[in-house]
Amino acid sequence: MSTPTQQKALFLQAKQGEFAIGTRPVPKPGRGEIIVKNEASGLNPVDWKIQVYGLFIETYPAVLGIDAAGVVEVVGEDVSIFKIGDRVLYEGITTDENDQATYQQYTLVPAELAAKLPDTFTFEQGAALPLVLTTAAVGLYHQADGPRFTPPWVAGGRGKYAGPIVIIGGSSVVGTYTVQLARLSGFSPIITTASLKNTEILKSFGATHVLDRNLSSAALREEVLRITGDPLSVVYDAISIPETQNAAFDLLAPGGKLIVVLVPAVDEDKKNATNRAIVIARGLIQFPQNVEFGKQLYKSLPALLEAGDLKPLRVEVVPGGLGGIPTGLDKLKNNQVSAAKVVVRPQETV
Ligand SMILES: NC(=O)c1ccc[n+]([C@@H]2O[C@H](COP(=O)([O-])OP(=O)(O)OC[C@H]3O[C@@H](n4cnc5c(N)ncnc54)[C@H](OP(=O)(O)O)[C@@H]3O)[C@@H](O)[C@H]2O)c1
Repeated sequence: MSTPTQQKALFLQAKQGEFAIGTRPVPKPGRGEIIVKNEASGLNPVDWKIQVYGLFIETYPAVLGIDAAGVVEVVGEDVSIFKIGDRVLYEGITTDENDQATYQQYTLVPAELAAKLPDTFTFEQGAALPLVLTTAAVGLYHQADGPRFTPPWVAGGRGKYAGPIVIIGGSSVVGTYTVQLARLSGFSPIITTASLKNTEILKSFGATHVLDRNLSSAALREEVLRITGDPLSVVYDAISIPETQNAAFDLLAPGGKLIVVLVPAVDEDKKNATNRAIVIARGLIQFPQNVEFGKQLYKSLPALLEAGDLKPLRVEVVPGGLGGIPTGLDKLKNNQVSAAKVVVRPQETV
């Protein structure tokens, strides 16, 4: 079947406006680019924050969406790594042209920032992974002011680190891949916080200790020190609300680094009194500072997925194709998702 010229997309119609399904052209690939027919798109909390607070985007109507997996539909010039029909996953981005976002049926993707999806992963599991994996990886391995550990996909990186690490919010999707990367890097113990009902799943990803996310800051510190003996050199806060950032900061040794995924919110007096650092993990792979790192990650990704080094997340499919996205974003906004990624199937859009 030939590629359609028009497709369905979910538009955020205006700053702080409503979402609506509409049509727009299917993009054409340039040199080094592919067009992917999206079979699954993953939802991220940032998308409801963009709608509610009017963050980041100035050009409307805008197509949002960062995560997707699907099938290569068209291959541009000078692309040798993919052929039509390959199953792939990739991280998209919202631009003024809307061609690279994932809340639509076909997306323009730089080929070097996509990876083949092994048959062991469904499209939904593939679409659950891109942004959260990059956010975990950039924080641990790449952010300029971060710990810059050697990634496990680089020679000598696998199992290199033997010390402890704490990951706040291990059952969040960012936290889940941070736990998995920490395991590949050799950290031990890997201590995380979550609702205790998620203990078994977190242990299957590599956590050695799961502590109740409702512990007070003091009780968390006591439990962590009982396990590690000493304060830590690195803590990754995958939740990064003020409460978790302050509790996480208290776990650090002098010289230690707290990696956060939102704006730093550690109390000023506490922050200024010590030489502990706060590092923001900026997960978008198409940020200029992340592109080369992203290419290496995506080159290594098929082997990591195929070998089971990175395991799939649990997914919750919202029905209705792209029309299901507002319902899915409401679930994220209202904290109704636990240890799972919410996804939709864009081809089912009516
Ligand atoms: N900087 C970046 O580039 C970047 C990239 C992606 C995401 N983010 C941000 O990172 C945050 C997490 O995103 P996500 O997609 O991973 O979220 P998510 O999976 O939707 O978050 C839900 C999970 O968070 C856990 N949780 C909530 N509050 C917690 C707390 N106080 N302590 C421990 N766990 C808690 C819940 O655990 P239980 O169910 O076990 O209770 C639940 O499993 C969001 O604010 C998002 O905007 C930033």
